[in-house]
Amino acid sequence: MTDIQPVSGSGRLPLRGQASTLTSLARQALTEDFGLRPLPAEAESVLDDLPASPRLIAHLRAVHDVACQLADWVAQHHPSVPFDRTAVLFGAATHDIGKVLHPEELSGPGSAHEPAGHELLRSRGVPEHLARFARTHASWNSSGIVLEDLLVSLADKVWKAKRVPDLEQLVTGLLATGAGEEPWEVFMALDDELDRIASGADARLAVQSSYPIMA
Ligand SMILES: [Fe+2]
Repeated sequence: MTDIQPVSGSGRLPLRGQASTLTSLARQALTEDFGLRPLPAEAESVLDDLPASPRLIAHLRAVHDVACQLADWVAQHHPSVPFDRTAVLFGAATHDIGKVLHPEELSGPGSAHEPAGHELLRSRGVPEHLARFARTHASWNSSGIVLEDLLVSLADKVWKAKRVPDLEQLVTGLLATGAGEEPWEVFMALDDELDRIASGADARLAVQSSYPIMA
């Protein structure tokens, strides 16, 4: 990954040749090349039509970038384990979108954004298999959770170097079962990768905190 740079200078050209609901700073958070991968076009399109906070968009960029790294690692180290990479990346890029409706949860605890985000995405025509991450990203022990959900949840933790043993064990279990490998072997390699990703947390946190909650 290239160096991550906090906010400065101007962003890329507007996404489309029409008015956006975003403020200029929120648009900058969405389009600036500060060393984090751009969001999937479909996620950019949804965000471009909402009054999303610059801080929220920067957070989605950070978690999406980490989800890309996790998806690459799974594909490389466990090629026999199928997963929907597109869904993981869209899910990471939109998981907290419900905070547009619950901005108090940008700076404080709360889970009202989870069902609200799911409903918001569904109301915008996003299919369930892509919208579900808005309501599942903090519910890794619930029934019906699959590898894609866990990878978004994991990205939403390790982006800031937060390690969550029970979540990591669930990921390890699914990968070990799917690949026919020993869980301890899978976890040793995953642990190394999570340490590597966590080492970039300070730079991601600097980018996120350089964008204001309100603008
Ligand atoms: Fe998040």
